[in-house]
Amino acid sequence: MQEVLPEGAVIRKLWIGETEKYREHVLRLDPVSRRNRFAGTVSDEFIRNYVDLTGALDAIVHGFFIGETMRGAAELRPLGLRFPRQAEAAISVEKSWQSHGVGSALLGRTLLAARNRGFRLLHMACLAENQRMQQLARKFDAELSFDFGGVVGEVESSRPTALSLMREMMSDSHGFATAMLDLQTRMLRA
Ligand SMILES: CC(C)(COP(=O)(O)OP(=O)(O)OC[C@H]1O[C@@H](n2cnc3c(N)ncnc32)[C@H](O)[C@@H]1OP(=O)(O)O)[C@@H](O)C(=O)NCCC(=O)NCCS
Repeated sequence: MQEVLPEGAVIRKLWIGETEKYREHVLRLDPVSRRNRFAGTVSDEFIRNYVDLTGALDAIVHGFFIGETMRGAAELRPLGLRFPRQAEAAISVEKSWQSHGVGSALLGRTLLAARNRGFRLLHMACLAENQRMQQLARKFDAELSFDFGGVVGEVESSRPTALSLMREMMSDSHGFATAMLDLQTRMLRA
């Protein structure tokens, strides 16, 4: 699926040491988006602990960046050794950036990362009233099967191929180049 992003925006994997940007993004979510993101009402403290845990687990976080600020995120959390082919996926986009194609681009990257790591089943906590997330998931139903019958949706992903690995590698190298350019510009300005 073709990614359409707002001008000047970048989606890239989060680096070690960027957890704070992720935490700030999640804390900035408006109350409705926060509730939808966690399938229930959660406190700031819960979010701080949740993001700390993400840093400690083998999670892959893609960030949607406008300059240095993270305005959207997609997280892929492996369920661990007992369920080696399963992971939890979750997406969040700050309100002013919603309905600009960001969620679609983030979900696309996450599904590709899941596929390339051999995750066959993804769980997504999604409230029944969260039509937007379900609409978004339906956009990918040519390659995946979704079941949002309960609060936790299940996503079956396809097997990795040389092409899917190449697609992830290419988007990583693009994200890395953009981040380096950004760093260089800031250093020159300083
Ligand atoms: C759900 C969420 C991730 C979607 O992100 P987004 O950036 O708004 O999504 P997109 O702009 O890519 O839109 C995806 C699809 O949602 C639907 N959609 C977009 N805006 C919509 C709106 N205002 N009302 C209803 N449906 C809408 C459309 O079908 C759209 O696809 P299309 O533009 O090709 O028609 C975002 O709204 C969000 O962060 N919500 C709060 C957290 C959350 O619900 N997370 C999901 C739980 S894991």
